[in-house]
Amino acid sequence: MTGFSADFLTLGIETSCDDTSAAVLRGERDILSSVVSSQTAVHGPYGGVVPELASREHVRNISPVVGEALRRAGVTRSQLQLISVTRGPGLVGSLLVGLNYAKATARVLNIPFTGVNHLEGHFFSPLLEHPGIEFPAFCLLVSGGHSSLYLAPAPGQYRLLTATRDDAAGEAFDKAAKMLGLPYPGGPVIDRLASGCAEPGFKFSLPKISDGSLDFSFSGLKTSLLQILRKEGIGPAASPEELDPRVLPLLKGFQEAVVAQLLDRIVRFSREHRPRSLLLGGGVACNSALRRMSREAVADGLGIPVYFPSPALTTDNAAMIALAGLFHYRQGRCSGFNENACPSLRL
Ligand code: KG4
Ligand code: ZN
Repeated sequence: MTGFSADFLTLGIETSCDDTSAAVLRGERDILSSVVSSQTAVHGPYGGVVPELASREHVRNISPVVGEALRRAGVTRSQLQLISVTRGPGLVGSLLVGLNYAKATARVLNIPFTGVNHLEGHFFSPLLEHPGIEFPAFCLLVSGGHSSLYLAPAPGQYRLLTATRDDAAGEAFDKAAKMLGLPYPGGPVIDRLASGCAEPGFKFSLPKISDGSLDFSFSGLKTSLLQILRKEGIGPAASPEELDPRVLPLLKGFQEAVVAQLLDRIVRFSREHRPRSLLLGGGVACNSALRRMSREAVADGLGIPVYFPSPALTTDNAAMIALAGLFHYRQGRCSGFNENACPSLRL
């Protein structure tokens, strides 16, 4: 182990997509600060993230966001012992802003830095709050760009069991919202509307993949929703309040169908791999139906503890990046100044 004590200070930086985030972590669990500057207002009118606008916003925000994280933590730059930064996957222009800022700061302070895989950051987010998680664990990462199930024999070891063959789960929510004229990101809005619907959800059928594969697939679900909307003559609403009420059971059913598919794969793979816990991460892990239905799946026989991070640590944040980088640092792995951004980095 490289020099480490319980008051070791790590600065985490995350700029892989559309939020500029910085956090100060003391030891392994004490989040002294976690600042996330959202760009939702910038990208909202376009219905998705515009890469060029995202990088420009990061350039504007990175220095104030890091300054604010240090201020809230009551820590000065000279007290930092490690910088941990996302190096991929993500938008290359966005990644480069955080990575170069981290390199320059590490150089000036003469401290090490670690380049971290964003997906591994999500894997570490439940570990920030839940000590004593048992391995091997399943880890379901569900966000706007990813829907993947991993088997982790231990932290730092990951085997991909299945992934989506088309849209990511969060992307499916975002596209469904766009069809209905609802704001971006679509997941939280659909969650809110579906949760408020007292009627039973419309029953979408689970997609059948003819080759028998257990890949996730969400684009068929989106097409089914579109066909129903066309058949019923329902177009985009000017605001969520003006949404045709017939849409609510459709959204509730859509949400339940996404979650049912995620849980179906987890249950099937768990018969073979016998994990001892299930970890969830990524924006879609905020979804209330996913939280409720996974607790039901546990009661119905999945029989393992399920660990959700609290909502602020479920979506993109820099505290999880700080912990992932600290893990590698403690294993003796640091990055060199030739470290580059890797937009399609795999876990
Ligand atoms: O992890 P994240 O903040 O960013 C990345 O994509 O890496 O995830 C954002 C995604 C968006 O697609 C958003 O619609 C979805 O997570 N999301 C949700 C909920 N909150 C965020 N999807 C369903 N239900 C939610 N409550
Ligand atoms: Zn993410």
